[in-house]
Amino acid sequence: MAIPRETVEQILQAAHIEEVVGEFVTLKKRGSNMWGNCPFHNEKTPSFSVNPARNIFKCFGCGKAGDSAKFLMEHEHFSYPEALRYLAKKYNIKIEEKEQTAEEIMQQSIREKMFNVNEFADKYFVDTLWNTDEGKTIGLQYFRERGYFDPIIQKFHLGYSPAEWDAFTKHAKQNGYSDELLEQIGLSIKGQKGLYDRYHGRVMFPIHSLTGRVIGFGGRILTNDKKSPKYQNSPESEIYDKKQTLYGIYFAKNAIARQDECILVEGYFDVLRMHQIGIENVVASSGTSLTMEQIRLVKRYTKNITMLYDGDAAGVHAALRGTDMILSEGMNVRVVVLPPEHDPDTFGKEFSVEYVSNYLKDNAKDFVRFKTELLLKDAQNDPIKRGQVIRDIVETISVIPDSIFRITYVKECSRLLDMSEQTLTNELNKILRAKFKKSLGVEDNVAPETETTTMPKQEETVEDQLPAGYYQERELVKLLLMYGREMIVDEREDENGQKIYEQVSVAQFIVDDLKNDGFIFTNAVNKKIFDIFDHAIDEGPIPKGQYFTSNEDETIAQLAADLLSSPYKLDQWEKFSIFVKSEENNLRATVLSSIYRYKDLIIEDRRKAVEEELKNTEDMDDQLILLKRKKDLDDIRKQINKELGIVIAK
Ligand code: UTP
Ligand code: MN
Repeated sequence: MAIPRETVEQILQAAHIEEVVGEFVTLKKRGSNMWGNCPFHNEKTPSFSVNPARNIFKCFGCGKAGDSAKFLMEHEHFSYPEALRYLAKKYNIKIEEKEQTAEEIMQQSIREKMFNVNEFADKYFVDTLWNTDEGKTIGLQYFRERGYFDPIIQKFHLGYSPAEWDAFTKHAKQNGYSDELLEQIGLSIKGQKGLYDRYHGRVMFPIHSLTGRVIGFGGRILTNDKKSPKYQNSPESEIYDKKQTLYGIYFAKNAIARQDECILVEGYFDVLRMHQIGIENVVASSGTSLTMEQIRLVKRYTKNITMLYDGDAAGVHAALRGTDMILSEGMNVRVVVLPPEHDPDTFGKEFSVEYVSNYLKDNAKDFVRFKTELLLKDAQNDPIKRGQVIRDIVETISVIPDSIFRITYVKECSRLLDMSEQTLTNELNKILRAKFKKSLGVEDNVAPETETTTMPKQEETVEDQLPAGYYQERELVKLLLMYGREMIVDEREDENGQKIYEQVSVAQFIVDDLKNDGFIFTNAVNKKIFDIFDHAIDEGPIPKGQYFTSNEDETIAQLAADLLSSPYKLDQWEKFSIFVKSEENNLRATVLSSIYRYKDLIIEDRRKAVEEELKNTEDMDDQLILLKRKKDLDDIRKQINKELGIVIAK
């Protein structure tokens, strides 16, 4: 009885390599990896590394490497299913083991037949390209004329389908493939005179699955026939789901993981060209807009996507499409626009790999900035358009799950848009709150006719219902969960004004800081988690994330799982060149800025309350007291913002 494939994927995604390995090997963090003594060979200095971002281990001493399942198979001598069962248990994933139904068996065999006929077709097209006169003089010639060398043509299994109406179909039928199958998989089309070849007279691109099996084809026309589309593609089938597929992923996945970046282009030839010049972390969306499934596919290997698009207007607009979706997956999106006359294929043909690489490096803009500049250029000085631009940008920022990145972008946009940060933050918070409320299932249904100018605006009502600092509170909880045990340097002054440095845990840093200044979380679950850490600082040990995700208190477990499922990646920060280089300082800066943002919002809230009170107070003495309180709060805010400025500017 097999474990369903989706479950296998679910298990492998849930398994954190550092946790799995951590059960058997003592690991210490150094840089973005963790290190320990290799359990597979004898050594005194650690050369066994665990890479949490990529979810793999590797020993630089003996060369053993792999994912969580592989580790267990090596270490515990489990079989693959045993390793999966072990992980499923560890991560509370249920394996539904059921007998396959007759229908499923049928289904299974249809899939097998489809893979089979595709492989047959692939061989046929490749063979035709290299070994027939027509293939050589038309197909191979075409690739070579476009500047492609034989190794790349071979690597990607490019082929040729003869111009004859039904050459392939005939050949396939002679080899026992049924009309029905050929039609279902889309290699053949049923016409009035019988079955004929979908791709006749085209050069062929097999489309490979993640594991390298042929799931479909694309065929490019070689004539100027305007009646036929430039590319014919396989229809969807049991084995070909367009929205789950990226052209080239099989050839690119290792390079994507290795370089921690995925370059996204539009076309088949763009992928080929980049590979030919030695840039291999490239996949194509094949001319359609990107889907969530495709993004998740990339996300298995990296969180960094660079979109490389044609320099023309269509290319630029293609770059705008779909990106909010990528951002919402917590990915870092950058955009490179090519010179107007180029696409990646022609660009790579004209210039050297050094030139192309440098161009990519020098012209990659983070997406928010790209969009802001582009829209601003469109809006020029038109104030109405400008207003739209601002809303549009803030909307984009609001989909980014990580609040620290959001803050960063608000800062940058405030500069680009020449608007106060506070205005943008207010706008952003409105959207976030509305979204949050929506996620709770409370839709804002304001019937327009009941809305009058004297009624408060809907957003304001929404805003009032979420406690001030709500998101910042959660952000701090997230930091506690993820980095509670990590050590950072606490820098403070003693009575004589001398600076003292000491190592404290992130948990202690946060808890002490908030307690000293009398801040208490308002949300009950947040408070529970805070209290657990508060307690653990004295009683030790400081619990790990998993203590919370598997907590018997459902509300704690739920929140912890939510927060931990979209992890920070501190080393990404360097790419935004906001923080100092060392990771430790990054962590400290993250923690500090989180604390300051939180305090700032709480103080702002208190200040608002005082202002409100002032409005309703007639008594002069009371007014003076309130004014003094307001001034104190203002001073505190100024101080907080100054310190926040220092942290971020460092
Ligand atoms: P392009 O028109 O940019 O094609 O479409 P291309 O890849 O640059 O090809 P050349 O250089 O003109 O030969 C980009 C992608 O959109 C899809 C294909 O995946 C193509 O690679 N497309 C395009 C189709 O599926 N059908 C079409 O008719 C056109
Ligand atoms: Mn092209």
